[in-house]
Amino acid sequence: MKSFKHYYIIFILCFFSCSEQKQELTLISEEDKSNSYSINNKVEELLSKMTLEEKVGQMNQYNGFWDLTGPAPAEGDAARKYEHLRKGYVGSMLNVRGVEDVRKVQKIAVEETRLGIPLIIGFDVIHGYETLSPIPLAEAASWDLEAIKKSASVAAEEASAAGINWTFAPMVDISRDARWGRVMEGAGEDPYLGSKIAEARVKGFQGENLSDYNTIAACAKHFAGYGFSEAGRDYNTVDVGTSTLYNTIFPPFQAAQDAGVRTFMNSFNELNGVPATGNEFLQRDILKDKWNFDGFMVSDWGSIAEMIAHGHAKDGKQAAEIAVKAGSDMDMESYLYVEELAELVREGKVDEKLIDDAVRRILRVKFELGLFEDPYKYCNEEREKTTLGNPEIHQAVLDMALKSVVLLKNDKNLLPLRKNNLNIAVIGALADDKTSPLGSWRIAAKDETAISVLEGLAQYSGNNITYAKGADVSIGETSFAKELTINTTDKSGFGEAKSIAKNADVVIMVLGEHGFQSGEARSRTDIGLPGVQQELLEEVYGINKNIILVLNNGRPLAIPWAAEHIPAIVEAWQLGTQSGNAIAKVLYGDYNPSGKLPMSFPRNVGQIPIYYNYKNTGRPSNPEPGVVFWSHYIDQSNTPLYPFGHGLSYSEFEYSDLNVDEVSDNEINVSFKLRNKSNVKGKEVAQLYIRDLYASVTRPVKELKGFEIVELDSFEEKEVVIKLSKSDFGFYNNVGEFIIEPGEFIIFVGGSSATTLEKKIDLQWKENH
Ligand code: BGC
Repeated sequence: MKSFKHYYIIFILCFFSCSEQKQELTLISEEDKSNSYSINNKVEELLSKMTLEEKVGQMNQYNGFWDLTGPAPAEGDAARKYEHLRKGYVGSMLNVRGVEDVRKVQKIAVEETRLGIPLIIGFDVIHGYETLSPIPLAEAASWDLEAIKKSASVAAEEASAAGINWTFAPMVDISRDARWGRVMEGAGEDPYLGSKIAEARVKGFQGENLSDYNTIAACAKHFAGYGFSEAGRDYNTVDVGTSTLYNTIFPPFQAAQDAGVRTFMNSFNELNGVPATGNEFLQRDILKDKWNFDGFMVSDWGSIAEMIAHGHAKDGKQAAEIAVKAGSDMDMESYLYVEELAELVREGKVDEKLIDDAVRRILRVKFELGLFEDPYKYCNEEREKTTLGNPEIHQAVLDMALKSVVLLKNDKNLLPLRKNNLNIAVIGALADDKTSPLGSWRIAAKDETAISVLEGLAQYSGNNITYAKGADVSIGETSFAKELTINTTDKSGFGEAKSIAKNADVVIMVLGEHGFQSGEARSRTDIGLPGVQQELLEEVYGINKNIILVLNNGRPLAIPWAAEHIPAIVEAWQLGTQSGNAIAKVLYGDYNPSGKLPMSFPRNVGQIPIYYNYKNTGRPSNPEPGVVFWSHYIDQSNTPLYPFGHGLSYSEFEYSDLNVDEVSDNEINVSFKLRNKSNVKGKEVAQLYIRDLYASVTRPVKELKGFEIVELDSFEEKEVVIKLSKSDFGFYNNVGEFIIEPGEFIIFVGGSSATTLEKKIDLQWKENH
C-alpha cells in the first residue's frame, strides 16, 4: 500500500544551480593557490619564448610507430614524425609505451629541440595496462566506487611504470544502446551511477597529487553524445534534445570536471548537425566557460580531418580553423594543426590568442605532472620491471573481477556448486580461452595471459571435470585492428559436447562474445549469442537440463530463451587477467556475488533503446483488455529481460519499513530496513530512486539518486539511511538551466530498478523573492 503522508519541507534558501553550489564549496588551499600561481608564471614565461611554430607544435599529437588504434598512416610518416619531433613540432605522442621507447622519444623532445619541452605520453589505459581489470562496464556492475577508484589507481601504477603519463580514460559516455560496441568502455545507461564512477575513476588515475611518479592525467571522453550514435552504429550521427543532453549526457562529464580531470577528448560524432570536434557550444560555452575547465581538450583520432567527410569543412585548412576556434586544443593524428595553423594565424583567420590559450592549457598539465622537473620521471627501468604484473596488482584485479560478477538467475539454488563428488561437464570455446577475457582495449596486454575458466576450475580438485569445446566463437586470427569472423557454420564439436553432458551432474556452459566482438567499431544488429552458440546451448539442454550458463560478453545480450530455460545464469563479462579465478570462486561460493547490472538487458534488439529511466508517455499502460491504443509492442512486452540494477546473491534480502524524514531545510533522510533472510553472509547494493510526478519538463518514471552497499551476516538486519538534498530533486530545463520545482515525488527503494518499496511525498520548496 502506498503511504500518502505528505512532507512539507520549507526552504529559506533561494534557488541555486547545482554547479554554482559546487563552485562555492570548492576550497582551495593556500598551497594549491601558490602552486598554481607559480605554474601559471612558468607557463607564461615559457610561452613568451616560443615561436608560433613551436606553439602549434605543442598542439600536435602523433601516434607512435608501433601500435595502431585508428586508421593506418601513410608511408613515410615515421620519417616525418621524427623530423617534427626534432624541430619541437610535437607536443604529445600516443601509443608509445614501455620505458625504453618512451625514453627514446622523450630524449629527442627534451635534448634535441630548441626549448626542450617534454612530451606528454598518452595511452588508452582503459581497464589496466598489462595486467587487466574487468572491462569498465563490468567494473560498473560492482557499484563499488572505492574498488573502481582502486582499479584505476592500480592501472595508473602499472602504466606510469611503463612510461605513460596520460590515459585516455575514463570514457563516460552514457549509452542506452547495446548494439554499440563501445558500451564495454563505459559505465552503462545511468547518469547518476555514471557520474559517481566518473569521479572515482578520475580520482583513481590522478591520485592526490598529479606530480607523483605513479599518478597519470585522466581524460574524460568523448565530449559529447557519442553513446547516442543512431542505431548503435559506431561513429554515426547524434541528434538529441536539450533535456537529454543536459540531464543524461553531460552529468558524468561535469562530475569528471568537478573531480579535477585534467583533459577531455572530443568525439567522432556530430551533435545536432555540428561535429563535436568543431562544436563551440560544447567545448567553449559549456566546458571551458560554464564549467571553468582549465585543462586541455584533445581531438579524437583524426576527428579534425573527419569534419570534411561530415560535410562541415571544405578542406583540411578550414577544418583546422573550425576546430581551434571551437576549442579543440590538441590534434590527434590529423596532422592539420601542424600543417595549417601557423599559416591561418599569419593570414589573420585565426587569432594567435586562441593558440596561446591552447598552449597554456597543455603546458599547464605538463607542469602539473612534473615533467619539466624531470622529463624521465616515468622512465625508470627498475620500477618498470618490479611493478608490471606484480602480485599486488594481480590481487587487486582479482578483487575487482569478483565484485563485477552479476548473478542473473539461480533457480533451485543450483549455485553455488558442491566442492566434492560432482561430475561436471564444461562446454564452450570461451571456457578454454585465455585471450577473450581480456576484452577489448588492451593494447599493452599479451595474448593468452588471462586465467581461463578451465584453469580457474582446476584449482578445485574435489570434482571430476570433463571439457568439450562444442563450437568456436570466431574463426582465424583476430586483433584490435582487424575485422572478426564469427563461426556460423561449424557444428562439428556438438556431438562431443552432448556426449560429455550426458553423464554429468551439472553442465557449465561458457558462452558469449569473443574479446574483440565489442569495443570500437564493433556494433552489432543481433545481440544474441553469436554464431552457433545458441544452437549448441539448446542441443545440450536437450540432453541435460542442469546447466549453469556463464556469459562472457562486452555488452548486454538478448538471451530470452536462456532466461526462460536455463536454471542458472552468471554474467561474467570480460573480467580481465584473473577472469577464470574469479569465475571459479563465484561458482563454488567462495565469493558471494553482489554485482548489479549497469545496463538493461533487452528481450530482443527491437526494444533498443531500452533503459529504466524512460518517460511515461500519455498512454503508459493498457487501459482495458482488448484496447490497442496504448504505448506498446504487439509482439513483445515493454519490459527488459533483466532490468538496470538487477543482480542476485547466494543470500536472500528483504526490504521493509521505508520512511522519509525531514532533517533540515534542504535535506531529507530516506531510511529502510534490509534483512538477510538466509544463512549465507552477503552484500546487497541497496538502491534509491525517485520519481517527480509532474514538472514543467516531464521527468523519467524513475531516477537513481542514491545507493549503498550493505554487508549482512546470516539473518542480520540493518537500518539503512540515505540522505537526499534539495538538488537531488532538480533537473535541467529546456534552456539548460538547473531548476528545482516543488511538488509530489515518489521515493522507491529496493534491489533493482524494478524496486520493491515506495512512498509518496510532497516537497514544497519555499522560493525566496
Ligand atoms: C578512440 C579513442 C581513443 C583514441 C586513441 C580513437 O579511435 O575513439 O577513444 O582514445 O582512438 O587510441
